Amino acid sequence: MLAIIGGSGLTQLANLDVMRREVVRTPFGEPSGALTFGRVGGEAVVFLARHGYGQTIPPHMVNYRANIWALQHAGAAKVISVASVGGIRADLHPGAMVVPHQIIDYTWGRKATYFEDTERPVVHIDFTEPYDARLRHTLLESAKTAGVDALDGGVYAATQGPRLETAAEINRLERDGADIVGMTGMPEAALARELKLPYAAIAVVANHAAGRADSAQAIHFTQIDATLRQAMGQVRRVIDELCRNSRP
Ligand code: HPA
Repeated sequence: MLAIIGGSGLTQLANLDVMRREVVRTPFGEPSGALTFGRVGGEAVVFLARHGYGQTIPPHMVNYRANIWALQHAGAAKVISVASVGGIRADLHPGAMVVPHQIIDYTWGRKATYFEDTERPVVHIDFTEPYDARLRHTLLESAKTAGVDALDGGVYAATQGPRLETAAEINRLERDGADIVGMTGMPEAALARELKLPYAAIAVVANHAAGRADSAQAIHFTQIDATLRQAMGQVRRVIDELCRNSRP
């Protein structure tokens, strides 16, 4: 079964035929909300709204461990993350889609591992390629079939939030090699890897990052909402295709 974690702008999947909702408790606490089970184009899908269904959980307070654990224990064999981001690279305008291939983690103070039991030997996961290559490929192929332009590759900078960045911070992220910036990509991707769950993301550029283009003086929130509303329609089309192509 495919799991989809929806971010800002995607608290529900319009194309999901909902069959049931289930509240799951985990050894790591409560996930962001009930898991929604259903079908998209005949494929079984489980959906979770990362920030809660009322969009009330800020990025640094999301229980990433509970979310990933709950999805796996509900039967998910792979996870697609939908996330909104700021565009750092000059050609990544609001509305652009990116399937990132790398991550730089600037978050702090988040529960970022399942392996912290001091009674057991230390576990290190390989994270050279943070996203699953096959799932990225399927995502890109699905976007192509759906007629949605999605950039193949990009470096995702995960910042702590919930505030947006300063212009100088964005300049620094760019010097570090980041193309897009968001607040939820980590530790989510690493936790999925710890549980050996293939994980890939589709990032929707909601705004130019701080200090860039029309965000030169400030980031305008009304514009973000409008951009996300429109772009999430495209994301849903990609997910439709993905489910058609997907054989778990
Ligand atoms: N910065 C961080 N996270 C974001 C942004 C941004 O500009 N836009 C959407 N999520």
